[in-house]
Parts: sequence; C-alpha cells; structure tokens
Amino acid sequence: MKHVPLRPALSTLPPYVPGARVPVGAAAYKLSSNENPYPPLPSVVAAIADGAVDVNRYPDMYATELTDAVAVHLGVQPDQVVAGCGSVAVLGHILAAFCDAGDQVVYPWRSFEAYPIAVTLAGAESVQVPTGDDGRLDLPAMAAAVTERTRVVLVCTPNNPTGPAVHAAELDAFLAAVPRNVLVVLDEAYVEFVRDPQAPDGLAVLAAHPNVVLLRTFSKAYGLAGLRVGFAVADARLAAGIRSASTPFGVSHLAQLAGVASLRAADELLDRVDRIVLERARLLDGLRAQGWDVPDSQANFVWLPLGDASARFAQEATEAGVLVRPFAADGVRISVGEPEATDLVLQVAGQFRR
Ligand SMILES: Cc1ncc(COP(=O)(O)O)c(C=O)c1O
Repeated sequence: MKHVPLRPALSTLPPYVPGARVPVGAAAYKLSSNENPYPPLPSVVAAIADGAVDVNRYPDMYATELTDAVAVHLGVQPDQVVAGCGSVAVLGHILAAFCDAGDQVVYPWRSFEAYPIAVTLAGAESVQVPTGDDGRLDLPAMAAAVTERTRVVLVCTPNNPTGPAVHAAELDAFLAAVPRNVLVVLDEAYVEFVRDPQAPDGLAVLAAHPNVVLLRTFSKAYGLAGLRVGFAVADARLAAGIRSASTPFGVSHLAQLAGVASLRAADELLDRVDRIVLERARLLDGLRAQGWDVPDSQANFVWLPLGDASARFAQEATEAGVLVRPFAADGVRISVGEPEATDLVLQVAGQFRR
C-alpha cells in the first residue's frame, strides 16, 4: 500500500530529551533544564497580565519595541537585531537563511543537543568536532574542519553542557583562520553568567567581524524560558536575511512585552544572576572538595563527566529529590538553583563517591 513518505533525514534525528519535570505534588528541585530558579519580577508579571487582553490580535511581526530595546541595551542598531521564538528557533532561521542541501555546518560535540537536529532539518550535513576532556571547545580543530562546503560554524560559549567559555585570544586566532564567507554563530545563551576575564566580548567581536552572528536569549539570565524569546545580533544585511527566513509572528505579544519589561528591570535581574554565580562557585568548590574532577563553568550549570555511571547518579539524585540531566554515557549536567538545592546536590554527590 502506498503511504506518504516522511523525509528520510527524520529517521536520523537524535531525539531532543527535555530535562525531567517535577511530578505533580512531588517536592523536588528541578535542576535539569538550566532554568532560572527565581520567579519573574512583579513588574514583568504585570506587563504580561496587561498584554493578556490583546491576545485576540496578532503580535507586532517585527517585535519593534523589543528589538529597539535590545538595540539600546546592547549599543547596536535595531536593524541588527532579529527576535524569534526562543534562540533555538532563531538558530533554525539562521541555518535556513545560510544553508542549502548538502552544505556543511561545523560544531563542537558534545554541545547543545539541538544542534544536530537543527542542522539535519535544514538539509545540511553535521561536522562534529570533539570537545576536549576538560570540557573546552577545540577551536583549532574546528577551524581545521572548515572546508569549501562549510557555510556555518557554531561556537557555543559557554558550552552547554560542559561549562567553559572560549577565550578571547583563541577566538581571535579561530576567526583569523576561518574564511570570511563562512558564518560564525557565537551562541551566547549563558553570556550574562560569564565571569572568566579571558572570555571574549561578543559585541566587540561582532563589530570587528562581519561574518559573526551573536545568538542570545531571555530564557536564562532573564528568566523567561516559558515565554520563548531569543534573538540574533548581526550585520544588518545578514540580519535581514535571517528575518526573511523567520516564522511570521514568531514572538508572541506577551513574550515581547515581558522582554521589554525585563530589560527595564535589567539591574534587578542581573543582581539575581550575581547570586546564581555565587551559588555556582559554592557548588563547584563543594564538588571539588569531595574530589570530583569538574570542568570550569561560566554558565548556570556544572558538568560531572561520569560516563557510564551518569544514569545511576541521576537516579540517586531523583530519589533524593533533585532532578538533574544525564547525557547517555557522557556525564550529568546539574543546573545551579536555590541554595537548598545546592546543599542537596552536594549531599547526593558526596554519598555517590563513597
Ligand atoms: C547553548 C544554548 N543555546 C540556545 C538555547 C536555547 O534557548 P532558548 O530557545 O530558550 O532561547 C539553549 C537552551 O538550553 C542553550 O543551552
């Protein structure tokens, strides 16, 4: 019997595994999705509530107020900013704008699990470059992997799930080695959490390199994961291309209002980021004091390279009331949450070593 064929590429897609959710009624800390543990500020909730009465209308397709506010916040021009339904959607639009069937996209692996899915769906070919045992991207190897077929390179900094950020000097050398007609996406989803003095200034890198695109999000530092809004910052011509490949009306009215309200409250929200950064230090120090070999983290999570023991660790953590994210035979990613959650993670990790 004849049937409607699915694209063969779909059968090759690795599944995107969402972080475990807290079962209804259970007491547990959710450290499985790199979310912000703090609830939205009252001013942000008010903006969302005010916008609720308008949801019979389509949103502003170009998210004008939001892109203007982002531009002012970052010191770029509004036509350089393209918003989308989470930065993961913006990444899809970037690949749709720059890749044709058979083109290659170079990226580190292990890294953000949406990369292989997005690349395959764009009809492009993945070229994965192993991330080092220390969790750092191997930028020289990534530059060496670029061929005439490469259209895009994804640089995840800090790298999800391993944690370190790339350093400015190595990024400079990388950008000097990559041809100028290859797009380099700096995925800076966690940039607000970076404290490494050697980390690059993405905006300065963008200003110096017209083939660079920054990818940022309101989901992490700004705590709007549930509303889905992220954006790219690029040279205006490239931004226009990404905009034309974007889903029409992709950013909801409520998400636009919440984004603007969050930028207005940026100081208060970034104070919370400081608190998460302090908590990250306490978690890293505590784990290292127990003898764990944990890579540096410049994001809101830490990485335990547990290999085959990952699933067992996640299971023990769940039983203790803390949800973490195991990655098959590689390791466990633990988001930084409330101080009580850190205490519990340290307790579970300490017991696991015994
Ligand atoms: C490196 C990286 N990029 C992008 C995203 C996507 O974030 P969002 O779609 O919520 O903006 C994530 C989310 O976990 C991430 O870790």
